[in-house]
Amino acid sequence: MKGVIFNVIEETVRAEHGEDAWDELLDTAGLDGAYTSLGTYPDHEMAVLVQTASAALGLSQEELLRHLGRVGFSRLAARNADLMIDFKDARSLLLGLNSVIHPEVRKVYPGADVPVFDVVSGQGHRMSLSYRSNRGMCYLGEGLALGAADHFGETMVVTQPICQHRGGDHCELQFIWPEARR
Ligand code: HEM
Repeated sequence: MKGVIFNVIEETVRAEHGEDAWDELLDTAGLDGAYTSLGTYPDHEMAVLVQTASAALGLSQEELLRHLGRVGFSRLAARNADLMIDFKDARSLLLGLNSVIHPEVRKVYPGADVPVFDVVSGQGHRMSLSYRSNRGMCYLGEGLALGAADHFGETMVVTQPICQHRGGDHCELQFIWPEARR
C-alpha cells in the first residue's frame, strides 16, 4: 500500500483526535510509522492500524474504513488537484476510476497496486460498480465514493448487495442518488 494512503489517514487521526493520537496509535499497533507518500509498505501494516484504531475507538472496521475514506477523499483530491479537473460530478468521477484516476495514480505513485472498478449497470439515479482487489478494502471504497459525492455537493447513498466479507466472490458497490429519482 502506498504511503500516501497512510499519510491521509495520519492527517485525519491527528485532526480528529489530537496531535499525539497518531503516535499513540502507532505505539499500540507496534509500528514505527515513517511513511513517505511515494513509499510502498506492507498491506498488513494497514490492517494492523485499522484493527488497532477500531478497537481504540469502539467502531467496527467497516464503520472506521468508511469514515476514513469519506473524510480522506478531500485530502487525496487536494494532493492530486489536476486529476479532479475532468470531473463534474461523482458519477463521472466513479466512472473514471479505471480509465483516468487510478491509471494516473500509477504514474504519480510508482508501484501503486490499484483496485479495479468495472461498471455492472448504470441508469438514471442508480449505478453499480464491481470492486476487485486482493486487499478487501471495499468499505474504504464506499467512504471514498461518499467523499466524492460530498465534494460535488451531492446526496448519494452506497450499499453493497454483494460483498467479499459476506461470502461473495467479489464486491459490488451500488450508488443511488435519491434526489435524481424521477
Ligand atoms: C482523486 C481521487 C483519487 C485518488 C488520487 C486515488 C488514489 C489512490 C491511491 C494512491 C491508492 C493506493 C494504491 C496503492 O497503495 O497501491 C488508492 C487505493 C484505493 N482507491 Fe483510490 N483514489 C482516488 C479516488 C478513489 C475513489 C473515488 C474510490 C472509490 C470508489 C477509490 C477507491 C480506492 C480503494 C478502495 C483503494 C484501496 C486499495 C485497494 O482496495 O486495493 N479511489 N487510491
